[in-house]
Amino acid sequence: NDWVLPAHPKLLKGKTLAVIVLDGWGEQVPDQYNAIHVASTPTMDSLKEGAPEHWRLIRAHGPAVGLPSEDDMGNSEVGHNALGAGRIFAQGAKLVDHALETGKIFEGAGFKYIQECFSDGTLHLIGLLSDGGVHSRYDQLQALMRGSAAHGAKRIRVHALTDGRDVLDGSSFHFMEQLEKDLEELRKQGVDALLASGGGRMYVTMDRYENDWNVVKRGWDAQVLGEAPNKFKSGLEALKHLKAANPKFNDQYCPPFVIIDDSGKAVGPILDGDAVVTFNFRADRMIMLAKALEYEDFDKFDRVRVPKINYAGMLQYDGELKLPSRYLVNPPEIDRTSGEYLVKNGVRTYACSETVKFGHVTFFWNGNRSGLFDENLECYYEIPSDQGITFNEQPLMKALEIGEKARDAILSGKYDQVRVNLPNGDMVGHTGDIKATIIACEAADKAVKMILDAIDQVGGIYLVTADHGNAEDMVKRNPKTAQPLLDKNGNIQILTSHTCWPVPIAIGGPGLSPGVRFRADLPDGGLANVAATMMNLLGFEAPADYEPSLIEVVES
Ligand code: 3PG
Ligand code: CO
Repeated sequence: NDWVLPAHPKLLKGKTLAVIVLDGWGEQVPDQYNAIHVASTPTMDSLKEGAPEHWRLIRAHGPAVGLPSEDDMGNSEVGHNALGAGRIFAQGAKLVDHALETGKIFEGAGFKYIQECFSDGTLHLIGLLSDGGVHSRYDQLQALMRGSAAHGAKRIRVHALTDGRDVLDGSSFHFMEQLEKDLEELRKQGVDALLASGGGRMYVTMDRYENDWNVVKRGWDAQVLGEAPNKFKSGLEALKHLKAANPKFNDQYCPPFVIIDDSGKAVGPILDGDAVVTFNFRADRMIMLAKALEYEDFDKFDRVRVPKINYAGMLQYDGELKLPSRYLVNPPEIDRTSGEYLVKNGVRTYACSETVKFGHVTFFWNGNRSGLFDENLECYYEIPSDQGITFNEQPLMKALEIGEKARDAILSGKYDQVRVNLPNGDMVGHTGDIKATIIACEAADKAVKMILDAIDQVGGIYLVTADHGNAEDMVKRNPKTAQPLLDKNGNIQILTSHTCWPVPIAIGGPGLSPGVRFRADLPDGGLANVAATMMNLLGFEAPADYEPSLIEVVES
């Protein structure tokens, strides 16, 4: 049967393997803006300074993880997809580019479905206003608006979520200005096109893994019901006003607002007979809204009014739940993931993180698939994240608890593979608070130590790596000199986003055969090479079409 993995000729089964993913932990120049460098991280340092054949860097951005270009920073979705699937799949960003470039998007069943509403209804476009390329891209929204108009949309309403997390904080003004220009251009062509509502991505709509449904409710109220505490005549006016009113204003947490006409009426609530497209291609932060828009039975918050709409996602966000049922572009078909192989070969797995990254180490890891493959062999454990805070207020997050859970799972002897994601470097890194990010990295390092100690006790093996960079670079730099860039007021520009830097991978532990070392002939190895590596460490050969394993066994 196709699922059977041959035994590795040299590596034995039966050693417990810990797989640790440090979220947002890259390698870059060791200066004061590298929070990982400044932090005291004795465990990660010892891995790097240990045996050179057991530590290296791997690629975690751009084409190595299925993104369109070398300029595309990595992110957790594509990173965990590559780690889990062992192959490189063209990812959402690329698939949408292709569908728009060829015009195929406008011929597909998903677009035809929303097109049914064009004669009498409004087309609503909800998503992230950004060119970060992580969840969405502005040029794709632009092409979608223009293409929809060309294909018969007469009324368009945009519901914009401001970013500041995948792009610089403050850039929402620039994107809003561009959007208003583009809408005006459409109006000149006779399309009734307006901004209808807005709000910051972390406070409005884009929650994930059901951490806090209030976030989605705030968005629902503004987008569907046309209700928000703040009402303005234009998007730029809204941003200017909200920023002036609050010294702590930032793009990520901008409060919800609706746009009203001269009579004070919201210009774009979602009504019966309308079409709705969520234009983010990335899944995690659209799934909750997709449920609210699509599910008849829904009890997460009071929707008040549930319009009869034709709804499509840019992609299908969850292949297992088939959510949403209609979509404009086919998602990558990530099949035969390492998780599925290992289960079919009897490997018992424990996976754990806290809520904000729980789906990363389960759903993304398994190729955007919800749930377990086999409940007898797997346990996925979610530690509830703190709610209603920004993580610079609580940089330790649940690192200790994740470390403890992993330790207990390792010591229990019930699992062959124990996999965790430690979110600190990434979640705190996204706040742009350097001091807090340093503390965050120290917490993650302590959790790593706890897990490695447990591996020591059971004679197991560890594999420590990361999904993409973030905490190692907290400022925007001049690409030539690497010096931090200043804004117009002379302040250093803080980088809240991920980076294009490589990430470390380290292996070791008492169970590692003495002859195992990283191969020298894969200098461009990336995250997709990790799955085969893991399979080898568990005593299996990887499937032939997986990216090659990073390790070899030499006679010692
Ligand atoms: C987010 O969704 O928080 C950021 O846009 C990307 O972060 P992640 O890829 O690390 O989840
Ligand atoms: Co991140």
